[in-house]
Amino acid sequence: MDKLSKAREYIKENKNKINQEYRLKYHFMSEIGWINDPNGFSYYNGEYHLFYQYYPYGSYWGSMHWGHAKSKDLIKWDYLPVALAPDMNYDADGCFSGTAIEIDGKLYLMYTGNISPNPDKPENIRQLQNIAVSDDGIEFTKFINNPVIDTKDLPSNALPQDFRDPKVLRKGDSFYAIIASRNTDGSGQLLVYKSNNLSDWTYLGVLLKSENKLGEMWECPDLFKIGDTDVVIISPQYIKRQGDKYCNTHSCVYILGKGDIETCNYTTSAIDEIDGGFDFYAPQTLQDDNGRQIMIAWIQMWERRIPTNEENHGWAGAMTLPRELRVINNKLYQIPVEEIKKYRTNLVKYSDISFENSLSLKEIEGQNIELDMKIDFLEANIFGLKILKGEQQETIMYYDKEKAKFVFDRSKSGVDISDSKADEDIKYVRKVGINLIENKLKLRIFVDRISVEIFIQDGEKVITSTVYPKSASRNIEFFSDGEVLINELNKWKIVL
Ligand code: FRU
Repeated sequence: MDKLSKAREYIKENKNKINQEYRLKYHFMSEIGWINDPNGFSYYNGEYHLFYQYYPYGSYWGSMHWGHAKSKDLIKWDYLPVALAPDMNYDADGCFSGTAIEIDGKLYLMYTGNISPNPDKPENIRQLQNIAVSDDGIEFTKFINNPVIDTKDLPSNALPQDFRDPKVLRKGDSFYAIIASRNTDGSGQLLVYKSNNLSDWTYLGVLLKSENKLGEMWECPDLFKIGDTDVVIISPQYIKRQGDKYCNTHSCVYILGKGDIETCNYTTSAIDEIDGGFDFYAPQTLQDDNGRQIMIAWIQMWERRIPTNEENHGWAGAMTLPRELRVINNKLYQIPVEEIKKYRTNLVKYSDISFENSLSLKEIEGQNIELDMKIDFLEANIFGLKILKGEQQETIMYYDKEKAKFVFDRSKSGVDISDSKADEDIKYVRKVGINLIENKLKLRIFVDRISVEIFIQDGEKVITSTVYPKSASRNIEFFSDGEVLINELNKWKIVL
């Protein structure tokens, strides 16, 4: 049987065998097997399409396929047949990440073929860029003249083993591909290629480069406009920690500025980490018919312990809630897409409650919920929440006014998934710098069994992490070191 049919068959036969214990209720996951990066995130024929790095046969990374799903509202997804399998000589060891573009009613995928003749010799890896096309958005045919960009098309300063994750975009009659590359100095850079037919590509130059200042290889680049700002997104490997920033092995960074892709010029006005949590990687964006720029990412980090893998649950990995991006005061804000509100049920509402020390409220609890709240700090310095609380378990978060930091702590969350190589102070804790506005803190917190996404001050900062509590750990407690006023508190169950 060919590799694509084999994968589709395997999923059908085995998807009912996975363990449900840690499954999320309102985030995207595969039916079975391992997922990592979102791929080909696009809006096609009035529906959202999400492809993803996929190994159906195990709960660990393996030979990459492209899984596929579509949605009318970005929240409820329908699984579609696996779109790509590594079945050609130019992608024999994996169909790696890439993007999608619609042209005259057809959906085109541009992706990296990974060839790794000897696993012990990473220097022999070769990465090539390929195209596949579909008339119906479901069955894809790989171009006859793949690879469309070969390693011989690389400039002399680029390593052939690290050349991947093309972002394809259109400007007028031309197509551009921005491709992650590793410079011979060991650090990341973004190469630009141009084409008028997706088959023949000409190298234009380097749009941006790390010069060893911002990590090593830059994975999964994206480039788009929000208003007048040209936004670049990259996932650099091994950025060195800078205090409370870049504490994960690999990080995600946004760059704001003004650029011209044709001349490969870019002037930077801001650089920051996209998400301050433990588990957020390889984001991708799309622009829909309403002009919204929407981002989705993998809720996981490389080189971590994953309980669903260790405990043989048959699946691993999920995607974040899709988030709308905005540029405000030279910062990138993230707001959960409006559509999530359709799935809010069972509202529990409190307003104007003041308390000191500790507070629990009737029906404020749960594992698949959204909390939306506004807090006036009055004279207090610390206000926080313990969520997913049960016998000896709790996931802690709080704002420290004096330090102007929001802190997330998963040391008591449940299964220990700490990174043994991490510095002691960041094994379980993440902090992001943010200010109160008129002494107030606004939080939107989405909890979905093993995922916690915290949107602070209307999305100015976000913290995304996984936690593995017992199913009975579902209580919530508020705490403070002085009197605070909860102006508003809304809790919903999110039910799809
Ligand atoms: C990022 C990444 C990409 C690559 C893919 C392989 O997480 O390493 O650079 O294309 O995953 O699965």
